[in-house]
Amino acid sequence: MGEKLSRVVIVGTGYVGASFAFTMLNQGVASELCLIDMNKEKALGDVMDLNHGLPFAPSRTKIWQGDYSDCKDADIVVLTAGANQKPGETRLDLVNKNTKIFQSIVSQVMEAGFNGIFIVATNPVDVLSYVVWKVSGLPKEKVIGSGTILDTARFRFLLGEYFQVDPRNVHAYIIGEHGDSELPVWSSADIGVIPLCDYLEQKEGVKQCDLDDIFIHVRDAAYEIIAKKEATYYAIAMALVRLTKAILNDEHSILTVSTYLDGEYGFEDVYIGVPSIVTRQGIERVLEIELNKEEKAMFARSVQVLKDLIGQLDL
Ligand code: 2OP
Repeated sequence: MGEKLSRVVIVGTGYVGASFAFTMLNQGVASELCLIDMNKEKALGDVMDLNHGLPFAPSRTKIWQGDYSDCKDADIVVLTAGANQKPGETRLDLVNKNTKIFQSIVSQVMEAGFNGIFIVATNPVDVLSYVVWKVSGLPKEKVIGSGTILDTARFRFLLGEYFQVDPRNVHAYIIGEHGDSELPVWSSADIGVIPLCDYLEQKEGVKQCDLDDIFIHVRDAAYEIIAKKEATYYAIAMALVRLTKAILNDEHSILTVSTYLDGEYGFEDVYIGVPSIVTRQGIERVLEIELNKEEKAMFARSVQVLKDLIGQLDL
């Protein structure tokens, strides 16, 4: 029996798409990686460059520059195409530009006969995940946005630094819009298995104002990085690979992806970042964690921000 092939197609080989491909190759995640970009020369250059790394990769990966017909047999299509944030621009400012681009891309992917899972990474990611779901006609479980996976990683990293523990042992979520209205779920944050609020009560030197500061740094991290180097791509690439692995390996991992709400948390008809169980079938279910009063209000505000935008879309 031959090994089962897994094909991942990347649409958009800008900073994020190319970094994603590089990370996929380094971690040996899929047996086939197909790169599509409007700029065919760029995609071909990336393919050549990546192929030259194959002798150093952990496993064999077939990498090629393709077109939409390659999506027919794809397990996952990762959408990283579109304009990115300019310094000072919010993720939501990009909405009209990228909605148009996405309508065209998703139609072409579907015309090819695609029946796998879409991962959406382009901003504003929650709104574009909704666009992909609508335009593709796929079940909601099969369209997944990167949501607040990266924000959650930033949060865990900074909390790990503050508490001097491995970030992998920090269990804390950022939920809501991947953007300015996102929120930290302090009420269920744990360091190891110790509730973070116990630390606050017991440990000298752990101050609420420091924690508030950590959240502000998480929320504004993209602005800071974009001001310094124009784009963010390494951590989001790793986050997307984590999500890709969770799908291909049927991991049942809990990740704060952008998911369609259908009554969960009391809302519907919106894509937003919430902890969800990710399997080979896509989103198995949304995890409804207990939010306190303040968190509920912040989440409702975040939903509203996204619903207002979705309401203005011409779909
Ligand atoms: C980020 O958060 C810009 O959404 C991108 O890094």
